[in-house]
Amino acid sequence: MREEGLLVTAPTPEDLEVEAGLRPRRIDEFVGQAELKERLSILIEAAHSRDEPVDHLLFSGPPGLGKTSLAGIVATEMGASFRSTSGPALDRPGDLAAVITNLDDGDVLFIDEIHRLPRQVEEVLYPAMEDGQLDIVVGKGPAARSIKIDLPDFTLIGATTRVGRVAPPLRDRFGYVARLDYYAADDLAAIVVRSAGLLNTQVTPEGSRVIARRSRGTPRIANRLLRRVRDYAAVRADDVVDDETANNALEMFEVDELGLDKVDRAILGAIVSKFGGGPVGLSTLAIAVGEDPETVEDAYEPFLILEGLIQRTPRGRIATERGYAHIGLDPVRPTDQATLL
Ligand SMILES: Nc1ncnc2c1ncn2[C@@H]1O[C@H](COP(=O)(O)OP(=O)(O)OP(=O)(O)O)[C@@H](O)[C@H]1O
Ligand SMILES: [Mg+2]
Repeated sequence: MREEGLLVTAPTPEDLEVEAGLRPRRIDEFVGQAELKERLSILIEAAHSRDEPVDHLLFSGPPGLGKTSLAGIVATEMGASFRSTSGPALDRPGDLAAVITNLDDGDVLFIDEIHRLPRQVEEVLYPAMEDGQLDIVVGKGPAARSIKIDLPDFTLIGATTRVGRVAPPLRDRFGYVARLDYYAADDLAAIVVRSAGLLNTQVTPEGSRVIARRSRGTPRIANRLLRRVRDYAAVRADDVVDDETANNALEMFEVDELGLDKVDRAILGAIVSKFGGGPVGLSTLAIAVGEDPETVEDAYEPFLILEGLIQRTPRGRIATERGYAHIGLDPVRPTDQATLL
């Protein structure tokens, strides 16, 4: 177990193993995101009544908020089969052609990390999404010719953590683009209760709320913290997860009341004490805490910014007053220093 990874939003190998069992299968098992669920239900029902597949859908939002789960739910609710692949796996146009020509009428094709599709593969996708046709070039040189193949009526569901990197022509070909937002504490508590049931763990309502509050708005993290608290409860507390057990366990794993872990606090601490509150550049900061810049940028920074603990400025990252307060320090501003002199 890598303790430092407790709050990173990307899935750990253990998450991937457990998540299959915890994943909601039907739309009413999917907690929260009420507006999005309502819109999807309408799309699904309308498609059903017309006896057509649902329009192509794009789900965007930070890791661990339920994009893959929701794609699976759309397929289940449509009674369709679910085929799954990802942007990086579709290296060449032929890879996509192979997947897409194997679909049956009504199938859902899920492309995860769709912002990472190579350009030439993306171009094959356009006519496939729009006219249900595959347009590819076979052969090379003078023998090359373009062939068109009629495709089955399928639904493409794309998922991305970076909607800004999805090329506009691709984005425009989706009938509906949905953004998943961080979850409210009540929804996360409900997710903890549901997962505890599936894991045969007894959790009190207060215990579920303690976990929910420290889960950074993210179901994947709520489930991960629940598993750690459950381990602790098994050894120290008769298997029952109540608020005291949850608090003790999370304290032991160094997850604080805001849901920050050691690395988050190291980042905040470095900006404050090593770089005088900032601004400090991303790569310098990453070196100071021994992480790679991408991990700092994708996994840690968004939550620190969301909580108003740090800010991104054109000259680098700075700690806010709230950030100083969180690690128990007062900001020393240049003006204060001037008065001291
Ligand atoms: N609304 C929800 N209700 C209940 N459980 C949820 C919900 N959203 C996510 N989960 C849980 O969180 C786990 C992670 O969700 P999922 O894999 O769907 O996220 P994702 O957005 O696809 O993440 P990534 O960007 O890393 O692919 C799921 O296995 C599921 O157990
Ligand atoms: Mg996913």
